[in-house]
Amino acid sequence: MILLDGKKTSADIKEEIAAEVTKIIKQNKRPPHLAAVLVGEDGASMTYVKNKVRACEKVGFESTLIRLKDSTTEEELLQQVHALNADDSIDGFIVQLPLPSQINEEKILLAVDPKKDVDGFHPTNFGRMALEMDSFISATPFGIMQLIERYEIETSGKNVLVVGRSNIVGRPMSILLSQKKPFANATVTLAHSRTKNLKELSLQSDIIVVALGIPNFLKADMVSEGTVVIDVGITRVDDPSSAKGYKLVGDVDYDEVAPKSSHITPVPGGVGPMTIAMLLQNTLLAYQRYQLS
Ligand code: GUN
Repeated sequence: MILLDGKKTSADIKEEIAAEVTKIIKQNKRPPHLAAVLVGEDGASMTYVKNKVRACEKVGFESTLIRLKDSTTEEELLQQVHALNADDSIDGFIVQLPLPSQINEEKILLAVDPKKDVDGFHPTNFGRMALEMDSFISATPFGIMQLIERYEIETSGKNVLVVGRSNIVGRPMSILLSQKKPFANATVTLAHSRTKNLKELSLQSDIIVVALGIPNFLKADMVSEGTVVIDVGITRVDDPSSAKGYKLVGDVDYDEVAPKSSHITPVPGGVGPMTIAMLLQNTLLAYQRYQLS
């Protein structure tokens, strides 16, 4: 069994990005610049955004954190988005989700200039991704594709089962893996809550991507020997024995499934760490595509 080590792979990608930044600086150009907008005080969101800002510093990017109060109106946030769209010193930005209930998330995501949409959440980027045009692919599917590529997992002609049809993970994964290109070309099945014969499907699969958010969902009796297993779930489960009071649990029953799998992502340390690296990669892409041209 080979561990798909997201910690190591994301560190490699960040090193590559840092090397690019060094080259940029040597040419007397400004570094890429990522901005993050955080509305309110949600604890998990604050941690995520802090990690994104810290990651920028590590690779030599500039970063700007814009904190807005919990009572921010939709109009105020829209104005902030418009200001970031117009600011030439910023290559890409994200509006951290979830947003407070008075703000319509869809309206905000639609207001982001697709050229600065390094989260890849704008329909223009989703559509361009689906059509194999230059786009920003959302961090989680982009990170999974990188793990597949960097571990040279054979996908061509393989049966892939994606479990979960969310707009930010399951659906884009099903599209990316079915495309006519290297590390894709798979025969993809997209399973979801109405799927009737999941175990039958999973037993026939060479690769299974699970993105449900249900801890320990995938059990050993659902997996054939030699399957590649990619676990996108990270649910906080109470754990009084840990200092934080919780532990992170994936959608795959790792202890049961790992011995049967050819490759598997651990949780934590698998897909999770890849997401920040891919956000940085998208920011570098935004800089290279639109700043230097
Ligand atoms: N909240 C949880 N994950 C994400 C993410 O990838 N991007 C944004 N903007 N918000 C999030």
